[in-house]
Amino acid sequence: MTLKATLIAGLAAASVIASAGLGLAQEEKKNPVVEARQSLMHLYAFNLGLLGGMAKGEIEYDAEAAGAAASNLAALAATDQTRIWAEGTDNATLGDSTEALPAIWENSDDFAAKRTALVEASATMADAAGGGLEGLRGAMGALGGACGGCHKAYRK
Ligand code: HEC
Repeated sequence: MTLKATLIAGLAAASVIASAGLGLAQEEKKNPVVEARQSLMHLYAFNLGLLGGMAKGEIEYDAEAAGAAASNLAALAATDQTRIWAEGTDNATLGDSTEALPAIWENSDDFAAKRTALVEASATMADAAGGGLEGLRGAMGALGGACGGCHKAYRK
């Protein structure tokens, strides 16, 4: 195949995959905001999981991997999340597809403070995680607390 033919074939395959994906999303009827929000949470958990495993001694400490997970987490926490927390995407409106409580939008200042707590705790972890296991352990309490504090108030 020429390069152009390969490109066209590739694009055609990509559009088939994209429309198959769309069909699936419509079948599940999950709001794209909810989908994105839960995906972000999964990325939080994926990175936190490595740090938590190292803190508990279940995963061998590796400075480079710990530093990477912590800086990923800090970067994710600091992204602009305006659209991820769009009004009208609470569980009273959308039902069981989301665990986001209406209280998020009724207490937006407190919710913003809980988001800031995660930004700060993950930045502290990003500074500490690559510098030794003791530092990682020291930053873990505040970080886990930032996740849990928001879930307790705002997640079903
Ligand atoms: C500012 C509030 C807030 C913070 C901070 C927060 N979360 Fe969440 N989290 C939520 C809410 C609200 C939901 C429910 C989202 C939904 O179902 O739409 C959720 C859901 C989740 C879920 C379930 C996702 C799913 O598919 O149902 C996981 C896992 C999770 N969070 C992990 C974390 C981890 C790990 C951290 C900390 C690194 C964290 N969260 C920090 C508010 C927060």
